Amino acid sequence: MFRLRAPTTMLCKSKVVEKALSRGKVLTIDNMNPHVKNIEYAVRGPIVIRAGEIEKELNAGEKKNFTDVIRANIGDCHATGQEPLTFLRQVVGICAYPKLFEDPSLPEDAKQRADRILNSCGGRSLGSYSDSAGLTVVREDIAQYITERDGIPADPANIFLSTGASEAIRNVMKLLMTTLEGNDKSGVMIPIPQYPLYTATIAEYNAEPIGYLLDESNNWSLSLDELERSLQEAKPHCKPKAICIINPGNPTGQVLTRQNIEDIIRFAHKENLFIMADEVYQHNVYAEGSQFHSFKKVLTEMGPPYSEMELASFMSTSKGYMGECGFRGGYVELINIDPQVKAMFTKAISAKLCSAVTGQAAMDVVVNPPREGEPSYELFKTQKDTVLSQLAEKGRMVTSTFNSIEGMSCNAVQGAMYAFPNIDIPKKAQEAAKAKGMAPDFFYCYNLLESTGMCVVPGSGFGQKEGTFHFRTTILPPVQKLGEMLGRFRDFHVKFMEQYS
Ligand SMILES: Cc1ncc(COP(=O)(O)O)c(C=O)c1O
Repeated sequence: MFRLRAPTTMLCKSKVVEKALSRGKVLTIDNMNPHVKNIEYAVRGPIVIRAGEIEKELNAGEKKNFTDVIRANIGDCHATGQEPLTFLRQVVGICAYPKLFEDPSLPEDAKQRADRILNSCGGRSLGSYSDSAGLTVVREDIAQYITERDGIPADPANIFLSTGASEAIRNVMKLLMTTLEGNDKSGVMIPIPQYPLYTATIAEYNAEPIGYLLDESNNWSLSLDELERSLQEAKPHCKPKAICIINPGNPTGQVLTRQNIEDIIRFAHKENLFIMADEVYQHNVYAEGSQFHSFKKVLTEMGPPYSEMELASFMSTSKGYMGECGFRGGYVELINIDPQVKAMFTKAISAKLCSAVTGQAAMDVVVNPPREGEPSYELFKTQKDTVLSQLAEKGRMVTSTFNSIEGMSCNAVQGAMYAFPNIDIPKKAQEAAKAKGMAPDFFYCYNLLESTGMCVVPGSGFGQKEGTFHFRTTILPPVQKLGEMLGRFRDFHVKFMEQYS
């Protein structure tokens, strides 16, 4: 009996298994969330994937016209050779490994900072969760930093730490998704060209991007007429909720004037828009006469009714002179937010427990660096000034080279870490691109990579005025490498023009 029954059970079981196997995947490309499929992020797009393949080919001994790939596609400072700031690493290092308190070679001010951070951590360990909004001391230090920066008091209760600025931007944008369908979708105004986190998030949230064009002929400034035009054109298709501003700009490298900022604030007030100010490059201002003005300072100084407007301002450890992208430190300051909305925001981020506490510790050093008279001050200042002055020099190098090449023009890199030159792509090259199913600037960048190993991102990945072509390059490679890169670039461009003119 037992023998007879056993094979039957086995048969049934194998049928069940067979059925389960033949069922196929629950989640397929056809039924998965369509909004996720709509996400595009050129900074890590197909050209960058190809760059990785080329690196492997070179490592395998394949012969090419170049011996290495120069990655100028992403604002990843340390990956491009920038040295970490000693003080920042000492503080985070001691926090992560408290035995280092006993190391006499580490400076007292780094130990004091680490001690203060650890006192704010559960069990005095960086390995414990923090409050959802972040460690109390870090929020206090951020508030103090903002107060000193703007001369206007900041409240730690308005500061929320995040895993990179990206997470905070996505969290705040999520609050604005008040209407989701058809012509009632939430509309979000974004600069064109823009940093693709914005279009990617808008696509994922099924919102409507409202692109306002930056004026290339006027150093990528922002005009009120263009804000009006883009908003009026979008109104029949969506409900505009917010305006995003990136200052200093990525990919365009401009620094907004105070007048520009005041105009944007008045416009946002008139149109009842929430302001999202991406100020992650606030330390990266190089051009003479340019200055960083925070939206919070300008809005507050404009007085009522503007000083009562809602604003989210974002900051990061990834940029500036520190370039600590991998620590994923960031924060948002929420200003004039309805207390009930703030409570909901806190609840929503609580569901993710907290941002990376190592990133929070790194952020603390950014906002509370060594002061004059402290043991680490001189070294810190030297390292900070060196990075910023080299970035300024590299910005000038890149723009002057591009402007000296026929068929190219490039606005000054006033700030941030990128140049966004304009290229005249000849008709013949545009046709060749079309035949390959590529956008003309993609075709150009693809050829540039294959011929020189220089990896940059086509302008179409950021958005650009129709009929114009660009690419974005970072100004991050070390001066010598950048010089070499520009040499390779010039040769390529001349040959490309000869081939397609
Ligand atoms: C304008 C802008 N905002 C936000 C981010 C995201 O920074 P994080 O590394 O802090 O997420 C970047 C990164 O390049 C950026 O350029």
